[in-house]
Amino acid sequence: MTQTTDTDRVLIFDTTLRDGEQSPGATMTHEEKLEIAGLLDEMGVDIIEAGFPIASEGDFNAVAEIAKNSRNSVICGLARAHFADIDRCWEAVRHAAQPRIHTFIGTSPLHRAIPNLTMDEMATRIHETVTHARNLCDNVQWSPMDATRTEWDYLARVVEIAIKAGATTINIPDTVGYTAPVESADLIRRLIAEVPGAEDVIFSTHCHNDLGMATANSLAAVAGGARQIECTINGLGERAGNTALEEIVMALKVRHDIMPWSTGVDTTKIMNISRRVATVSGFPVQFNKAIVGKNAFAHESGIHQDGMLKNAETFEIMRPEDVGLTESNLVMGKHSGRAALRDKLNQLGYEVGDNQLKDIFVRFKELADRKKEVYDEDLIALMRVGEDSE
Ligand code: KIV
Ligand code: ZN
Repeated sequence: MTQTTDTDRVLIFDTTLRDGEQSPGATMTHEEKLEIAGLLDEMGVDIIEAGFPIASEGDFNAVAEIAKNSRNSVICGLARAHFADIDRCWEAVRHAAQPRIHTFIGTSPLHRAIPNLTMDEMATRIHETVTHARNLCDNVQWSPMDATRTEWDYLARVVEIAIKAGATTINIPDTVGYTAPVESADLIRRLIAEVPGAEDVIFSTHCHNDLGMATANSLAAVAGGARQIECTINGLGERAGNTALEEIVMALKVRHDIMPWSTGVDTTKIMNISRRVATVSGFPVQFNKAIVGKNAFAHESGIHQDGMLKNAETFEIMRPEDVGLTESNLVMGKHSGRAALRDKLNQLGYEVGDNQLKDIFVRFKELADRKKEVYDEDLIALMRVGEDSE
C-alpha cells in the first residue's frame, strides 16, 4: 500500500536492489535479486526499487520478474529523464499489481552542467518526461538529483512543475550526503509550505551517508513532513552507502515516544535479510554496526555481563528478539557439535546438506584445535573454500 490517510505512517522505500547494487562490487545474480525482493515483500516494505531497467538486459529481466512475483509491495524501476528510459522502465514494472515509475534528473548547478541544459530547457524536459511517465502509469515518483545543493528558487520551481505534470511522490535526494539534520527538516518543511500542489503528493527523503548523517537526516526530514524514507538493507550503497533500513525502522520503534511515526515493517525479519544481503552482495557488516552488527547485542566486560544477568535493560535498549535474534549466542569452539555447527551456518545464511556438513565439520574441528574460538568469519571462509573446491 502506498497511499495512506494515516498521517503518522511513514512509507518504507527500499532501494537495496538499485542504489545498493550500484556499490562497486555489490552486483547480485538474477536469482539473488529475486530472493532479496521476496524477503523485502514478506517483511512489509511498502515500495521496492527493483533496478534500473534500461541499464542492462539483466536489470530489465530482474525488474520484470520481481514485478511478476510481487505480492504486497509496490514495484518501482528507475529511469533517467528520457522517453526511452521511461518506456523501458514501464515495460518492466507494468507486470506488477502495483507498479511505479521513478524518473530523475540532476538539478544542482554541477549536475545541470552535465547535459548542458539551461534552467528553462531542463524545466521543459522535466515537464515532458513526468507527463510521459504519468500517461503510462498512475504512480510516478520524480527526483531532483542533488536537491540539497540546488538553488532554492529553482528547486521549488521544478518541484512545482513535476507535481503539475502528474508526479505522485516527490523524492528529495541528498545525493552526496552533504546536508545536516536541521537543514533536512527545514527543506522538506519549506517545500510543503511554499510549493503549490505540495499537499497532494507524498514527499520522500533519500539520503547518503558520506558524513555519517543519513539516518539522522532521514528522520529529520520526516519531522519536516516527509512520509517516505528511501533506504537499503545494511546501508548498502555507493561510497559510504545509503540510509540503513534497519536503523530507521528500529529508531522509530524504540523512540516512538519522541518520533511518533510508524512503519509496516516486521522488525523480526531484519536479521535474516541483513545476513542474506551481506552474503549475496559480498559486503560484510561491520562488527559494531547499529542493529545488525555482530556486536550490537554482545556483551563482554564483567560489569556489563553482570548488569545483563540482573536486568537486560541495563545495557540493551531493544530486545534481540525484536530484530530476529535468539537470545542465546552460540560460541563455536572445539567442544561444539554438528547440530550447533549446522544451526550457526543457517544463521549465517547457508543451508547445508548432510554430506556437506560432514566435510565442513572435519575442517571446523581442525581449525578449532588451532584457535580458542571459531568466529563467524572463519566459518564463512570455510564455506567459501568448500564452494571454490566444488
Ligand atoms: O542519490 C540519488 O540522487 C539517487 C537518485 C537517482 C534518486 O539515487
Ligand atoms: Zn542515491
